[in-house]
Amino acid sequence: MSGKKSFRIAVLPGDGIGPEVMQEAVRVLGVIQKKYGFDCDMVYGLIGGAAIDGCGTPLPEETRQICRNSDAVLLGCVGGPKWDALPLERRPESGGLLVLRREMELYANIRPLVLFKELRDISPLSSSKTEKEIDLVVVRELAGGIYFGKPRRLGADEGLDTMLYRRRDVERIAEVAFSLAGRRRGRITSVDKANVLSSSVLWRSVVDEIAAQHPEIEVRHMYVDNAAMQLILNPHQFDVILTTNLFGDILSDETAAIGGSLGMLPSASLGKKSHLYEPAGGSAPDIAGTGAANPVAMILSMALMLEYTFDRTDAAKDVFMAVGTAVKDGYRTRDVCSDAKHSVSTEEMGRAVCRYL
Ligand code: IPM
Ligand code: MG
Repeated sequence: MSGKKSFRIAVLPGDGIGPEVMQEAVRVLGVIQKKYGFDCDMVYGLIGGAAIDGCGTPLPEETRQICRNSDAVLLGCVGGPKWDALPLERRPESGGLLVLRREMELYANIRPLVLFKELRDISPLSSSKTEKEIDLVVVRELAGGIYFGKPRRLGADEGLDTMLYRRRDVERIAEVAFSLAGRRRGRITSVDKANVLSSSVLWRSVVDEIAAQHPEIEVRHMYVDNAAMQLILNPHQFDVILTTNLFGDILSDETAAIGGSLGMLPSASLGKKSHLYEPAGGSAPDIAGTGAANPVAMILSMALMLEYTFDRTDAAKDVFMAVGTAVKDGYRTRDVCSDAKHSVSTEEMGRAVCRYL
Protein backbone atom coordinates (compact mmCIF):
# COMPACT_ATOMS: atom_id res chain seq x y z
CA MET A 1 0.00 0.00 0.00
CA SER A 2 1.38 3.41 -0.96
CA GLY A 3 -0.43 5.31 1.77
CA LYS A 4 -1.15 8.13 -0.64
CA LYS A 5 -4.67 9.44 -0.27
CA SER A 6 -4.92 12.40 -2.57
CA PHE A 7 -5.24 11.92 -6.32
CA ARG A 8 -5.80 14.02 -9.36
CA ILE A 9 -7.95 12.22 -11.92
CA ALA A 10 -8.59 13.18 -15.53
CA VAL A 11 -12.14 12.28 -16.51
CA LEU A 12 -12.78 11.94 -20.24
CA PRO A 13 -16.36 10.75 -20.84
CA GLY A 14 -16.09 10.76 -24.65
CA ASP A 15 -18.91 9.72 -26.97
CA GLY A 16 -22.03 7.57 -27.18
CA ILE A 17 -22.76 5.86 -23.88
CA GLY A 18 -19.47 7.23 -22.47
CA PRO A 19 -20.95 10.15 -20.50
CA GLU A 20 -23.74 7.98 -19.03
CA VAL A 21 -21.51 5.17 -17.82
CA MET A 22 -18.91 7.65 -16.59
CA GLN A 23 -21.50 9.37 -14.44
CA GLU A 24 -22.11 6.08 -12.62
CA ALA A 25 -18.41 5.31 -12.18
CA VAL A 26 -17.93 8.78 -10.69
CA ARG A 27 -20.95 8.22 -8.44
CA VAL A 28 -19.42 4.98 -7.15
CA LEU A 29 -16.04 6.66 -6.72
CA GLY A 30 -17.78 9.32 -4.61
CA VAL A 31 -18.94 6.64 -2.17
CA ILE A 32 -15.50 5.00 -2.14
CA GLN A 33 -13.86 8.36 -1.42
CA LYS A 34 -15.96 8.83 1.70
CA LYS A 35 -15.58 5.24 2.83
CA TYR A 36 -11.78 5.14 2.47
CA GLY A 37 -10.95 8.78 3.01
CA PHE A 38 -9.56 9.43 -0.46
CA ASP A 39 -9.39 12.94 -1.74
CA CYS A 40 -9.95 12.97 -5.53
CA ASP A 41 -9.65 16.07 -7.61
CA MET A 42 -11.49 15.33 -10.85
CA VAL A 43 -10.78 17.38 -13.94
CA TYR A 44 -12.99 16.83 -16.98
CA GLY A 45 -11.71 16.92 -20.54
CA LEU A 46 -12.94 16.40 -24.09
CA ILE A 47 -11.86 13.54 -26.32
CA GLY A 48 -13.07 11.86 -29.52
CA GLY A 49 -16.16 13.03 -31.35
CA ALA A 50 -17.14 15.28 -28.46
CA ALA A 51 -13.81 17.06 -28.85
CA ILE A 52 -14.16 17.26 -32.64
CA ASP A 53 -17.55 18.92 -32.16
CA GLY A 54 -16.33 21.12 -29.32
CA CYS A 55 -12.98 22.29 -30.65
CA GLY A 56 -12.35 20.73 -34.04
CA THR A 57 -9.83 18.08 -33.04
CA PRO A 58 -10.20 14.63 -31.40
CA LEU A 59 -7.44 15.22 -28.84
CA PRO A 60 -7.18 18.91 -27.90
CA GLU A 61 -4.02 20.22 -26.27
CA GLU A 62 -5.99 21.05 -23.14
CA THR A 63 -6.97 17.39 -22.74
CA ARG A 64 -3.38 16.28 -23.23
CA GLN A 65 -2.32 18.66 -20.51
CA ILE A 66 -5.03 17.50 -18.11
CA CYS A 67 -3.87 13.91 -18.66
CA ARG A 68 -0.21 14.79 -18.21
CA ASN A 69 -0.98 16.48 -14.90
CA SER A 70 -3.07 13.62 -13.50
CA ASP A 71 -2.31 10.50 -11.50
CA ALA A 72 -4.80 8.53 -13.59
CA VAL A 73 -7.18 8.91 -16.50
CA LEU A 74 -10.73 7.56 -16.55
CA LEU A 75 -12.03 7.25 -20.09
CA GLY A 76 -15.53 6.36 -21.31
CA CYS A 77 -15.36 5.50 -25.00
CA VAL A 78 -14.97 7.23 -28.32
CA GLY A 79 -16.43 7.11 -31.81
CA GLY A 80 -19.76 6.97 -33.55
CA PRO A 81 -21.40 7.12 -36.99
CA LYS A 82 -21.34 10.92 -36.95
CA TRP A 83 -17.55 10.91 -37.41
CA ASP A 84 -17.11 7.71 -39.44
CA ALA A 85 -16.63 9.51 -42.74
CA LEU A 86 -13.60 11.49 -41.53
CA PRO A 87 -10.13 10.44 -42.64
CA LEU A 88 -8.64 7.91 -40.21
CA GLU A 89 -6.19 10.30 -38.56
CA ARG A 90 -8.94 12.77 -37.72
CA ARG A 91 -11.38 10.19 -36.40
CA PRO A 92 -12.15 9.81 -32.68
CA GLU A 93 -10.40 6.41 -32.50
CA SER A 94 -7.16 6.93 -34.46
CA GLY A 95 -6.84 10.67 -33.88
CA GLY A 96 -8.05 10.66 -30.27
CA LEU A 97 -7.77 7.46 -28.27
CA LEU A 98 -4.80 5.93 -30.10
CA VAL A 99 -2.81 9.16 -29.97
CA LEU A 100 -3.47 9.39 -26.24
CA ARG A 101 -2.41 5.76 -25.74
CA ARG A 102 0.75 6.50 -27.62
CA GLU A 103 1.52 9.77 -25.80
CA MET A 104 0.98 8.23 -22.40
CA GLU A 105 2.99 5.18 -23.52
CA LEU A 106 0.22 2.86 -22.38
CA TYR A 107 1.90 -0.36 -23.36
CA ALA A 108 0.08 -2.92 -21.22
CA ASN A 109 -3.64 -3.42 -21.39
CA ILE A 110 -5.06 -5.71 -18.73
CA ARG A 111 -8.52 -7.11 -19.42
CA PRO A 112 -9.77 -9.50 -16.77
CA LEU A 113 -12.73 -11.64 -17.73
CA VAL A 114 -15.35 -11.25 -15.07
CA LEU A 115 -18.03 -13.89 -15.14
CA PHE A 116 -20.21 -13.33 -12.10
CA LYS A 117 -21.72 -16.57 -10.82
CA GLU A 118 -25.16 -15.09 -11.14
CA LEU A 119 -24.62 -14.29 -14.80
CA ARG A 120 -23.56 -17.75 -15.87
CA ASP A 121 -26.91 -18.24 -17.56
CA ILE A 122 -26.21 -15.19 -19.74
CA SER A 123 -22.93 -16.57 -21.09
CA PRO A 124 -23.24 -18.04 -24.59
CA LEU A 125 -21.21 -21.01 -23.33
CA SER A 126 -23.18 -24.02 -22.18
CA SER A 127 -23.80 -24.39 -18.46
CA SER A 128 -21.52 -27.42 -18.34
CA LYS A 129 -18.68 -25.03 -19.24
CA THR A 130 -19.66 -22.20 -16.94
CA GLU A 131 -20.54 -24.10 -13.77
CA LYS A 132 -16.86 -24.10 -12.85
CA GLU A 133 -15.43 -20.61 -12.42
CA ILE A 134 -13.75 -19.12 -15.50
CA ASP A 135 -10.93 -16.87 -14.35
CA LEU A 136 -8.62 -15.51 -17.01
CA VAL A 137 -7.05 -12.23 -17.99
CA VAL A 138 -5.90 -10.92 -21.32
CA VAL A 139 -2.64 -8.95 -21.29
CA ARG A 140 -2.65 -7.06 -24.56
CA GLU A 141 0.32 -5.14 -25.92
CA LEU A 142 -1.16 -1.68 -26.49
CA ALA A 143 1.45 0.72 -27.79
CA GLY A 144 2.82 -1.10 -30.82
CA GLY A 145 2.09 -3.62 -33.53
CA ILE A 146 -0.14 -2.99 -36.50
CA TYR A 147 -2.07 -0.22 -34.72
CA PHE A 148 0.96 2.04 -34.94
CA GLY A 149 3.03 0.53 -37.77
CA LYS A 150 4.68 2.74 -40.36
CA PRO A 151 4.54 2.95 -43.29
CA ARG A 152 0.83 3.14 -43.60
CA ARG A 153 -0.96 4.37 -46.63
CA LEU A 154 -4.41 4.60 -48.08
CA GLY A 155 -4.86 5.07 -51.80
CA ALA A 156 -7.76 4.54 -54.16
CA ASP A 157 -6.65 1.01 -54.97
CA GLU A 158 -4.61 -0.07 -51.98
CA GLY A 159 -4.39 0.22 -48.25
CA LEU A 160 -1.19 -0.58 -46.37
CA ASP A 161 -0.53 -1.27 -42.69
CA THR A 162 2.63 -2.67 -41.16
CA MET A 163 3.10 -4.82 -38.11
CA LEU A 164 6.37 -4.16 -36.34
CA TYR A 165 7.52 -5.52 -33.00
CA ARG A 166 10.87 -4.74 -31.49
CA ARG A 167 12.52 -6.85 -28.82
CA ARG A 168 11.98 -4.15 -26.20
CA ASP A 169 8.23 -3.94 -26.94
CA VAL A 170 7.85 -7.66 -26.37
CA GLU A 171 10.06 -7.71 -23.29
CA ARG A 172 8.15 -5.04 -21.44
CA ILE A 173 4.69 -6.50 -22.08
CA ALA A 174 5.94 -10.01 -21.29
CA GLU A 175 7.30 -8.75 -17.98
CA VAL A 176 3.85 -7.47 -17.04
CA ALA A 177 2.32 -10.84 -17.92
CA PHE A 178 4.92 -12.80 -15.94
CA SER A 179 4.48 -10.64 -12.90
CA LEU A 180 0.69 -10.96 -13.11
CA ALA A 181 0.88 -14.73 -13.63
CA GLY A 182 3.09 -14.95 -10.53
CA ARG A 183 0.28 -13.37 -8.51
CA ARG A 184 -2.30 -15.70 -10.10
CA ARG A 185 -2.16 -19.38 -11.06
CA GLY A 186 1.25 -19.12 -12.68
CA ARG A 187 0.28 -20.00 -16.25
CA ILE A 188 0.84 -17.98 -19.40
CA THR A 189 -0.49 -18.71 -22.85
CA SER A 190 1.36 -16.52 -25.33
CA VAL A 191 -0.79 -16.06 -28.42
CA ASP A 192 0.75 -15.27 -31.80
CA LYS A 193 0.76 -16.29 -35.46
CA ALA A 194 4.34 -17.52 -35.65
CA ASN A 195 3.56 -19.90 -38.51
CA VAL A 196 2.97 -16.89 -40.78
CA LEU A 197 4.21 -13.58 -39.30
CA SER A 198 7.83 -12.55 -38.72
CA SER A 199 6.81 -10.26 -35.88
CA SER A 200 5.30 -13.32 -34.21
CA VAL A 201 8.50 -15.36 -34.65
CA LEU A 202 10.36 -12.63 -32.77
CA TRP A 203 7.55 -12.39 -30.21
CA ARG A 204 7.79 -16.11 -29.49
CA SER A 205 11.55 -16.19 -29.09
CA VAL A 206 11.59 -13.17 -26.75
CA VAL A 207 8.81 -14.69 -24.63
CA ASP A 208 10.87 -17.91 -24.43
CA GLU A 209 13.92 -15.96 -23.25
CA ILE A 210 11.94 -14.31 -20.50
CA ALA A 211 10.32 -17.61 -19.61
CA ALA A 212 13.80 -19.04 -18.99
CA GLN A 213 14.24 -16.44 -16.24
CA HIS A 214 10.94 -17.47 -14.61
CA PRO A 215 11.03 -21.23 -14.18
CA GLU A 216 8.13 -21.01 -11.72
CA ILE A 217 5.77 -19.85 -14.50
CA GLU A 218 4.41 -22.38 -16.96
CA VAL A 219 4.50 -20.95 -20.48
CA ARG A 220 3.06 -22.29 -23.68
CA HIS A 221 2.50 -20.80 -27.13
CA MET A 222 -0.67 -20.93 -29.14
CA TYR A 223 -1.61 -19.69 -32.60
CA VAL A 224 -4.30 -17.04 -32.49
CA ASP A 225 -6.82 -18.99 -34.58
CA ASN A 226 -6.51 -21.94 -32.25
CA ALA A 227 -6.75 -19.64 -29.22
CA ALA A 228 -10.03 -18.21 -30.51
CA MET A 229 -11.36 -21.76 -30.73
CA GLN A 230 -9.91 -22.99 -27.43
CA LEU A 231 -11.51 -20.09 -25.57
CA ILE A 232 -14.90 -21.46 -26.56
CA LEU A 233 -14.05 -25.16 -26.23
CA ASN A 234 -12.28 -24.99 -22.89
CA PRO A 235 -11.84 -21.56 -21.30
CA HIS A 236 -10.63 -23.15 -18.04
CA GLN A 237 -7.25 -23.97 -19.55
CA PHE A 238 -6.32 -20.26 -19.53
CA ASP A 239 -4.89 -18.13 -16.76
CA VAL A 240 -2.97 -15.23 -18.35
CA ILE A 241 -3.23 -14.74 -22.11
CA LEU A 242 -0.29 -12.66 -23.35
CA THR A 243 -0.71 -11.28 -26.84
CA THR A 244 -0.22 -8.52 -29.40
CA ASN A 245 -2.27 -5.39 -29.89
CA LEU A 246 -4.52 -6.64 -32.69
CA PHE A 247 -4.97 -10.19 -31.43
CA GLY A 248 -5.68 -8.85 -27.94
CA ASP A 249 -8.33 -6.52 -29.32
CA ILE A 250 -10.09 -9.43 -30.98
CA LEU A 251 -9.70 -12.05 -28.26
CA SER A 252 -10.77 -9.68 -25.49
CA ASP A 253 -14.12 -9.09 -27.19
CA GLU A 254 -14.49 -12.85 -27.29
CA THR A 255 -13.72 -13.15 -23.58
CA ALA A 256 -16.21 -10.32 -22.90
CA ALA A 257 -18.90 -12.29 -24.68
CA ILE A 258 -18.04 -15.35 -22.60
CA GLY A 259 -18.55 -13.13 -19.55
CA GLY A 260 -22.04 -12.33 -20.73
CA SER A 261 -21.65 -8.90 -22.30
CA LEU A 262 -19.15 -6.42 -23.64
CA GLY A 263 -20.71 -4.09 -21.08
CA MET A 264 -19.07 -6.11 -18.29
CA LEU A 265 -15.42 -6.04 -19.39
CA PRO A 266 -13.17 -3.50 -17.67
CA SER A 267 -9.61 -2.65 -18.61
CA ALA A 268 -6.51 -1.02 -17.22
CA SER A 269 -3.96 0.44 -19.61
CA LEU A 270 -0.67 0.71 -17.79
CA GLY A 271 1.85 3.28 -18.86
CA LYS A 272 5.30 4.36 -17.86
CA LYS A 273 4.21 7.32 -15.76
CA SER A 274 0.47 6.98 -15.25
CA HIS A 275 -2.36 4.69 -16.21
CA LEU A 276 -5.65 4.95 -18.05
CA TYR A 277 -8.79 3.01 -17.25
CA GLU A 278 -11.50 2.36 -19.80
CA PRO A 279 -14.19 -0.20 -20.56
CA ALA A 280 -13.18 -2.62 -23.30
CA GLY A 281 -16.41 -2.06 -25.21
CA GLY A 282 -17.32 0.64 -27.68
CA SER A 283 -19.54 3.71 -27.58
CA ALA A 284 -22.74 1.80 -28.51
CA PRO A 285 -24.32 4.75 -30.34
CA ASP A 286 -27.50 2.76 -30.93
CA ILE A 287 -28.42 2.85 -27.25
CA ALA A 288 -26.75 6.13 -26.25
CA GLY A 289 -29.10 8.37 -24.31
CA THR A 290 -31.68 5.64 -23.69
CA GLY A 291 -30.51 4.70 -20.19
CA ALA A 292 -29.93 1.11 -21.32
CA ALA A 293 -26.13 1.12 -21.19
CA ASN A 294 -24.41 -1.19 -18.74
CA PRO A 295 -22.16 0.89 -16.48
CA VAL A 296 -20.45 -2.16 -14.95
CA ALA A 297 -17.41 -2.19 -17.27
CA MET A 298 -16.78 1.49 -16.46
CA ILE A 299 -17.36 0.99 -12.73
CA LEU A 300 -14.98 -1.98 -12.69
CA SER A 301 -12.41 -0.03 -14.72
CA MET A 302 -12.59 2.58 -11.95
CA ALA A 303 -12.04 -0.29 -9.48
CA LEU A 304 -8.89 -1.25 -11.40
CA MET A 305 -7.73 2.34 -10.85
CA LEU A 306 -8.15 1.78 -7.11
CA GLU A 307 -5.96 -1.29 -7.47
CA TYR A 308 -3.23 -0.06 -9.81
CA THR A 309 -3.03 3.69 -9.19
CA PHE A 310 -4.31 3.99 -5.62
CA ASP A 311 -2.57 0.74 -4.71
CA ARG A 312 -5.64 -0.28 -2.74
CA THR A 313 -6.67 -3.82 -3.57
CA ASP A 314 -9.09 -3.74 -0.63
CA ALA A 315 -11.08 -0.86 -2.11
CA ALA A 316 -11.00 -2.44 -5.57
CA LYS A 317 -12.30 -5.74 -4.19
CA ASP A 318 -15.00 -3.86 -2.37
CA VAL A 319 -16.29 -2.47 -5.67
CA PHE A 320 -16.12 -5.86 -7.41
CA MET A 321 -18.07 -7.40 -4.52
CA ALA A 322 -20.69 -4.65 -4.56
CA VAL A 323 -21.24 -5.16 -8.29
CA GLY A 324 -21.48 -8.92 -7.75
CA THR A 325 -24.05 -8.52 -4.99
CA ALA A 326 -26.09 -6.04 -7.00
CA VAL A 327 -26.16 -8.48 -9.90
CA LYS A 328 -27.07 -11.31 -7.54
CA ASP A 329 -29.98 -9.33 -6.18
CA GLY A 330 -31.31 -8.91 -9.69
CA TYR A 331 -30.00 -5.50 -10.69
CA ARG A 332 -29.20 -5.98 -14.34
CA THR A 333 -29.19 -3.75 -17.35
CA ARG A 334 -30.88 -4.98 -20.50
CA ASP A 335 -27.77 -6.58 -22.04
CA VAL A 336 -27.45 -9.05 -19.16
CA CYS A 337 -31.09 -9.49 -18.22
CA SER A 338 -32.97 -12.47 -19.59
CA ASP A 339 -36.26 -10.76 -18.81
CA ALA A 340 -36.17 -7.30 -20.38
CA LYS A 341 -39.20 -6.16 -18.33
CA HIS A 342 -37.15 -6.38 -15.17
CA SER A 343 -34.01 -4.71 -16.40
CA VAL A 344 -32.74 -1.57 -14.67
CA SER A 345 -31.41 1.65 -16.15
CA THR A 346 -27.77 2.76 -16.21
CA GLU A 347 -28.40 5.08 -13.28
CA GLU A 348 -30.35 2.50 -11.25
CA MET A 349 -27.46 0.10 -11.68
CA GLY A 350 -24.93 2.70 -10.52
CA ARG A 351 -27.05 3.64 -7.51
CA ALA A 352 -27.52 -0.03 -6.62
CA VAL A 353 -23.74 -0.59 -6.58
CA CYS A 354 -23.38 2.45 -4.29
CA ARG A 355 -25.92 1.02 -1.86
CA TYR A 356 -24.02 -2.26 -1.63
CA LEU A 357 -20.74 -0.54 -0.78
C1 IPM B 1 -10.64 -1.40 -27.67
C2 IPM B 1 -11.30 -0.68 -28.82
C3 IPM B 1 -10.26 0.23 -29.48
C4 IPM B 1 -9.12 -0.65 -29.97
C5 IPM B 1 -10.82 1.12 -30.60
C6 IPM B 1 -11.95 1.98 -30.13
C7 IPM B 1 -9.76 1.94 -31.25
O1 IPM B 1 -11.82 -1.60 -29.71
O2 IPM B 1 -10.16 -0.72 -26.75
O3 IPM B 1 -10.62 -2.63 -27.69
O4 IPM B 1 -9.20 -1.22 -31.05
O5 IPM B 1 -8.14 -0.75 -29.25
MG1 MG C 1 -11.74 -3.59 -29.05
